Amino acid sequence: MSLEPFSRDDPIFRDEDVLRDSHQPETLRERDRELEEYQSALKPVIKGARPRNIFIYGQTGVGKTIATTMIMERLQIDQREYDGLDVEVVQVVCKNLKNSYQAAVKLVNQFRDSENKIPMTGYPPDSVYGFLWEHLREVDATHVLFVLDEVDSIGSDDQILYQLPRANDNGNVPVDETKVGVVGISNKFTFRDNLSARVKDSLCDEEIHFPPYNADQLRNILSQRAERAFLDGVLSEDVVPLAAAMAGQESGSARQGLKLLYKAGDLARKNDDQRVTEEHVREAEPKVKESQVRNELESIPTQSHLTLYSLLLLERQDQLPAKSSEIYDVYEIIAERADASVKTARTIRDRLSQLKLKGFLDTEEYNEGSQGGSYYLYEFGDIRPDVVEEVLQSVDRLEELFHADDTP
Ligand SMILES: Nc1ncnc2c1ncn2[C@@H]1O[C@H](COP(=O)(O)OP(=O)(O)OP(=O)(O)O)[C@@H](O)[C@H]1O
Ligand SMILES: [Mg+2]
Repeated sequence: MSLEPFSRDDPIFRDEDVLRDSHQPETLRERDRELEEYQSALKPVIKGARPRNIFIYGQTGVGKTIATTMIMERLQIDQREYDGLDVEVVQVVCKNLKNSYQAAVKLVNQFRDSENKIPMTGYPPDSVYGFLWEHLREVDATHVLFVLDEVDSIGSDDQILYQLPRANDNGNVPVDETKVGVVGISNKFTFRDNLSARVKDSLCDEEIHFPPYNADQLRNILSQRAERAFLDGVLSEDVVPLAAAMAGQESGSARQGLKLLYKAGDLARKNDDQRVTEEHVREAEPKVKESQVRNELESIPTQSHLTLYSLLLLERQDQLPAKSSEIYDVYEIIAERADASVKTARTIRDRLSQLKLKGFLDTEEYNEGSQGGSYYLYEFGDIRPDVVEEVLQSVDRLEELFHADDTP
């Protein structure tokens, strides 16, 4: 077959990058209250006072990161108006960082050039914190604001969230030289609740909630992006409202709405269709959903992966639905094989409930008659076992299990 020349012709998109996550819109629509609260929480900084620590929370795709980026940029511009003020913002994404230690290393490295970075393992924790205080004492700024995005990744080891907000109080960084503040961002509601009391106390001076968007708000947000992303006249009238309605009902996430728009446009382009229509959005929906499920599946903790893997083995032997005790018997064997710590049956029952909450698993209640009790039987929910299998195969820790003999 002879190759067609690469061509820049695109009948659908003017600039598809506008629909990407990394694109920054000029204004944030439908977030007036949140932006106002955010700015007011940062007011002490612009006045030269000690920052209040801020905790931002809300589900995925509701504008927490984009709002933070825009506010911090604005803060850095506006501060120039004031003498004797020099605010430095250190923004890190904690995704993939498993604990406070790794977060501390990442922060230290923000102050170092590429030749002097320290590795993710090896130094005693005290030295890592020592480096951090040293850098903060050396930095030539009146304020350093640490933005820890997706901070829930660090899990229950919240040492860093105790240390950082207290850097001034503990005398690690003299307050008259540099004032330290922390902004923590999380999309897991349970994360805040599970923080130790001492951390909650210092980290959550101000809490700002970003609620999910409804369909009307999403329509407004998506139109702004669609206008720039698509060529004039390409979008049928019902495309944005439908994408907004779907995302509004499902998740309230602007990210999901943007993905629907992008996928719909992409399908139209692949089909050589002249316009993007409602049908393209409907066709896009299961595809977007599947890729979201995959992402979510990848990001759950190891013990949940092991639990799902146990169900997968039972499924292969036609033994689903199964009781939690049966799942646990398989789990014990494979947790050991994976060289993971073997948790109690109770912990695994909790994992099963969480997986059910996320829609990965379904249950049916089983009654043993008047004498026996009732219990749940678990099976896969909204997700196909072959998708689970594919994702689990790509998880580092589990990869080897797939190559080993699968019969428990
Ligand atoms: N009000 C808005 N106006 C325009 N675009 C928005 C708005 N809210 C969110 N977006 C867009 O939606 C996408 C997701 O937003 P963002 O990354 O800020 O979500 P998030 O709350 O940080 O989600 P996560 O918890 O998954 O990190 C981005 O592309 C962002 O530009
Ligand atoms: Mg974010």
